[in-house]
Amino acid sequence: MIEGGFFVKKTTISSTVLPSSIAKKILVFEEVDSTNTTAKELARTGAEEGTVVIARRQNHGRGRFDRLWESPEGGLYLSIVLKPQVTVEKTSLLPLIAALSVCQTIKIFGPSATIRWPNDVLVHGKKIAGILLESETQRDKVSYVVVGIGVNLNIENTDFSSQIRSRSTSLKKEMKSSVDYEKFLQQFFQQFSSFYQLFVQEKFGRIIEEWKKHSDTIGKTIQITTSQDTFQGLAVDVDQSGFLLVKTTDGSLKKMTSGDCIYLNEL
Ligand code: BTN
Repeated sequence: MIEGGFFVKKTTISSTVLPSSIAKKILVFEEVDSTNTTAKELARTGAEEGTVVIARRQNHGRGRFDRLWESPEGGLYLSIVLKPQVTVEKTSLLPLIAALSVCQTIKIFGPSATIRWPNDVLVHGKKIAGILLESETQRDKVSYVVVGIGVNLNIENTDFSSQIRSRSTSLKKEMKSSVDYEKFLQQFFQQFSSFYQLFVQEKFGRIIEEWKKHSDTIGKTIQITTSQDTFQGLAVDVDQSGFLLVKTTDGSLKKMTSGDCIYLNEL
């Protein structure tokens, strides 16, 4: 079913993590290329909604815009296969759900976390988690969505490369002690299950409302870079699809579906 030999070793996690309404089948690996790559392969070959791929390490973790996601031991790297019966447009809410679930889980452990649009999770202004959504569609139907989540859990500052060290943090660093990996995972699945249920019930307004409460971006002057251009403006709101509304310097309102967001006061 899976080709390429990128599974180094399969391992297990304790049964306390099972079951939860979203994580129906959990596959845990010592090391993979990228849990998203593995999950996509599984999804394409018939894996059901609720299949989760977890790895202790990734040797080619992928971030947004083809960036590398540094994935040393101690971090949480997981991908969830979803097969929602929604229009393609609505899948843009899934990363928001993932970011919200991470925020709520972190809060259970102590620190309060915020979200920089679209879905970077921050603690004290530094990135603690990132989300990568990948999907396949046929005409306007969703074949599958893989939601990949990377959380810096028990990672030391020195484990990050010098390029990202100053803008990254970990839960261990914030808490000044290690956190229980499996407890975090269990809590995360519970949070994700609740938000996903809202999504399936098409209670999109509730999701957006919750996202706005955690937003670190609305009200800030930002610079957005997309594959086409870079521009500046004021982040005024997020619409019902999770798109960011930005009032640009010429007074027009831009609706952003994706992009890289930087706060101008931090440049
Ligand atoms: C970003 O902020 O750029 C997104 C980072 C997403 C990283 C996670 S780790 C688990 C999953 N597998 C990957 O290769 N990427 C995502």
